[in-house]
Amino acid sequence: MKILGIETSCDETAAAVVEDGTKILSNVVVSQIDIFAEYGGVIPEVAARSHLEAILPVVDKALSDASCSWDEIDAIAVTHAPGLLGSLLIGTLTARTLAILHNKPLYAVHHLKSHVYANWLTTNTNQNESTLAHSSKNADASLNDIINHPTFPLLALVVSGGHTQILYMRGHNQFEIIGTTRDDAIGECFDKVAKILGLPYPGGPSITKAATGNPLRYRFPHPKVDGYDFSFSGLKTAVLREVQKAVNVPISYPSHQLADLLTPEQVADFAASFQRTAVEILCEKISSAMCNYPDIQSVVVAGGVSANQKLREALPEAYFPAPVLSGDNGAMVGAACYYEILSGVKPVDPYKLNIYPRISIEK
Ligand code: KG4
Ligand code: ZN
Repeated sequence: MKILGIETSCDETAAAVVEDGTKILSNVVVSQIDIFAEYGGVIPEVAARSHLEAILPVVDKALSDASCSWDEIDAIAVTHAPGLLGSLLIGTLTARTLAILHNKPLYAVHHLKSHVYANWLTTNTNQNESTLAHSSKNADASLNDIINHPTFPLLALVVSGGHTQILYMRGHNQFEIIGTTRDDAIGECFDKVAKILGLPYPGGPSITKAATGNPLRYRFPHPKVDGYDFSFSGLKTAVLREVQKAVNVPISYPSHQLADLLTPEQVADFAASFQRTAVEILCEKISSAMCNYPDIQSVVVAGGVSANQKLREALPEAYFPAPVLSGDNGAMVGAACYYEILSGVKPVDPYKLNIYPRISIEK
């Protein structure tokens, strides 16, 4: 079954053709990062306008890269929740129109499900896979033959720009939230700390690049939150206070001017120390969940922050998407849709499909 997946929930305009939920026939992503690096963050109205300009060429390229005609497409899948309102509207309106025009069944997919299902795409590999117990099964398989899917029940650590959650999955398309952030998401925290340090948006990759210093120079407290919940706003504030201390200014000093006072060595040490703490906090929570859910067979990590190399190194037994599939893309939408169809999910009415900017994965 060939599914055209369309994703426009934030600042990536993406479309892909995926076969049987695992094989990527094409994967086209047009990123608006260059536009928003200038502004230091996403501006929703600008994102929606950029999606509008890019979406049809991106869909056309996804079909042509896959050498696929419309006749060969079995279904269209689109992100309808959660995300930026205007961005979601462009993707869903496009998918609805294409579904009507080409008479294809249309499926609406939750963005976090898609991130989780990036782990079922055949390029799935952790950089450290040779050290993993489960890799031995596929020792002889070429990359495209790797069908080394996570097994259920599993725990999914979802780490993106808008969400930080631990999910328990008893089977395909069964999601139970067992932990969530009480304030900022981890990706958002990377982005805000990068801003304090004067590093460009998006913060995750730029902090990783800058983190060449001493990861133990600055110590930040770990939040005390019950169960598997997270909190990252305290970490962001702790970095801010430590930077203010390091450059000797009062807490009333404008935070956007702090970076000018930092030496390159301090930036490298702050980036490394923050990254170490952020990874430690994520690992503590998922490790504690692993201990208390002894029936789980696998752990998967999903979302933009799963591209982080230190996080990959810290969780060598977990599944990670190929780094190129960690961020937003259409292939993961096609994969999630395939497993939804296998679980009995029905197509939506293309004349009525709605968007839900804030809805939970459990709904
Ligand atoms: O999943 P995603 O592409 O979009 C959302 O659904 O939110 O995640 C974007 C987030 C951004 O906050 C970005 O800074 C972060 O993922 N990110 C990273 C890395 N690459 C992207 N965070 C840490 N390390 C990275 N290498
Ligand atoms: Zn995302």
